[in-house]
Amino acid sequence: MDFYTNRLHIRPVNINDSKSLFNYRSDSETHRFLSLIPKTIEDVSDFICRTSSSINIPGTWFQFVIIERDSDILIGDIGIHFIETDSENMQTEIGYTLDKNFRGKGYAMEALTEIIDYLINDLNKHRIIASIDPINIDSIRLIERLGFRREAHFKESLFFHGEWVDDLIYAILAKEWKNKSN
Ligand SMILES: CC(C)(COP(=O)(O)OP(=O)(O)OC[C@H]1O[C@@H](n2cnc3c(N)ncnc32)[C@H](O)[C@@H]1OP(=O)(O)O)[C@@H](O)C(=O)NCCC(=O)NCCS
Repeated sequence: MDFYTNRLHIRPVNINDSKSLFNYRSDSETHRFLSLIPKTIEDVSDFICRTSSSINIPGTWFQFVIIERDSDILIGDIGIHFIETDSENMQTEIGYTLDKNFRGKGYAMEALTEIIDYLINDLNKHRIIASIDPINIDSIRLIERLGFRREAHFKESLFFHGEWVDDLIYAILAKEWKNKSN
């Protein structure tokens, strides 16, 4: 399952990507808002092994990687959580990370647009959400550029990296995404 945009190639992660992911995900500024804080390449390999090898399985995360086509460098990743509380499996959560050397170029926007199109048009998802720390300004700018609405601001609802933090929930419905694309 490969996707090609103007500048990017997006494909499922595999174990051979461990070192490339480790290179940018071990950076403390990059993983500040992420659950995974890898200390070794093996930590990333374990993370990859824990992700689902099949897409669209309720209760699992599926992980894509983003490759810059010009350079063939792995520059980021997108995770998709198929939310199991929904018996019809029609809602997903997205997460995303770019190597800091490849930000500010619109790559996350380009990759997520492709993946959201796929989730809505091919996998028939009804609603997509994102969970964001209110101080993660770059992520908020990105998700709002994509057309997601802010639905909730939970106060100190997550115990994250040793402290209670707030959580913003953003969402977009399939019909909103399709209207936006017209
Ligand atoms: C969240 C994250 C992916 C956003 O990355 P980003 O580079 O800001 O987002 P994009 O790749 O879409 O780039 C958008 C920027 O590129 C600029 N840009 C430059 N050339 C562009 C082009 N050709 N097309 C589109 N945008 C372009 C845009 O103007 C925008 O800049 P601005 O935000 O200053 O207005 C990144 O900050 C990140 O990986 N953070 C660490 C992990 C993280 O916190 N993940 C989210 C957890 S909720």
